[in-house]
Amino acid sequence: MEFEVKITGYDHQGRGLGRINNKIIFIPNTMINEVVKVRITKDKKNYYEGKVLEFIEKNINRKENICKYYPACGGCNILHLPYQEQLEYKQDKVINILNKYVDTNLNIKSIIPSDKQFNYRNKVTLQTDNNNIGYYNKNSNNLIQIDKCLLLDENLNEYIKTIENKNNKIVLRCNNNKVLDNDSYIIKEIGNYKYKVSLDSFFQINDNVTFKMYEKIKEYVNSTKEDNILDLYCGTGTIGIYVSESANEVLGIEINKKAIKDANENKKINNITNITFISDDVSHVINKIDFKPSIVIVDPPRAGLDEKTIKCIIKMKPKRIVYTSCDPMTLARDLNYFKYYYNIDEITPFDMFPNTYHVECVTLLNIK
Ligand SMILES: C[S@@+](CC[C@H](N)C(=O)[O-])C[C@H]1O[C@@H](n2cnc3c(N)ncnc32)[C@H](O)[C@@H]1O
Repeated sequence: MEFEVKITGYDHQGRGLGRINNKIIFIPNTMINEVVKVRITKDKKNYYEGKVLEFIEKNINRKENICKYYPACGGCNILHLPYQEQLEYKQDKVINILNKYVDTNLNIKSIIPSDKQFNYRNKVTLQTDNNNIGYYNKNSNNLIQIDKCLLLDENLNEYIKTIENKNNKIVLRCNNNKVLDNDSYIIKEIGNYKYKVSLDSFFQINDNVTFKMYEKIKEYVNSTKEDNILDLYCGTGTIGIYVSESANEVLGIEINKKAIKDANENKKINNITNITFISDDVSHVINKIDFKPSIVIVDPPRAGLDEKTIKCIIKMKPKRIVYTSCDPMTLARDLNYFKYYYNIDEITPFDMFPNTYHVECVTLLNIK
């Protein structure tokens, strides 16, 4: 069946939303105020999902014909929105989630934009099939062959053209004009620090926004030479090293052994003597460490913090917690634990991933 729907807003995945007989419908690649003819692709108890058959009224600000693989490849979700509208969408998303699930009086700052809307990604994972190279289609494992991707650093796009062996998954990462495709490493520079990164270690995707975000983390950490700082989910030690100058001691914990190997090299490269790293699962080791932090930094994966880790942090009574999150929903869940013991003083969103629905947030919590 076909229906005519007016788009009145967006959901957390950047899909337009409207209503059919009062039941909500989510429709990808639509924009507010557009009127579309849709086919229902999923009929659930409380909502529909739909696909555009025809645009009856288009938003005059819609960006079109930017990428021939959009929206099929699934890498971008909101490429059709002008950048300012993308930023407004992400700002509203953070405000809506945190107001709804945590508190309506939070101090949420304006989102910090990315200087680059395209060519910002320093890493890519490509799939291969039958000597073709590309991304998997959003909803299937069908390969969308690509010659280049607008989100990738130009050095990665140039490198993709030269790949001959198209038989396995291919992971690439770059620094200036060096592209890493094997078991070696590259050196990344953020602010005054140099970081050695292997292909398997986590490193933030967008260098320009990473710099802005690390500066904000440092401002929120606001430490002195007296402070002992615990850096949980520390990756290659980047944030701990970034704040180490104003600290007595820093302890970083990270599960990925290779990342910890990089972190120890990074300590040497940057001549830092007051930082130590432990390779372990945060939730296994946090109640066993002999370290009394005055400040705790956390930067967990999308799933956020587990209950045991939250309880251990609260028990340690640091005067400050600086929480970097890549998912406002799990951030909201975790802030609901902390809020009884800590004031949620400030939240700054960052646009680490332009043209996608993803948004990073850095939150400052001070003990009550
Ligand atoms: C979002 S990244 C942050 C890395 C680092 N703070 C940075 O800015 O580059 C999250 C990190 O948590 C690590 N990780 C995931 N689960 C973990 C766990 N249970 N214990 C310790 N580290 C974990 C991942 O390997 C990854 O390096």
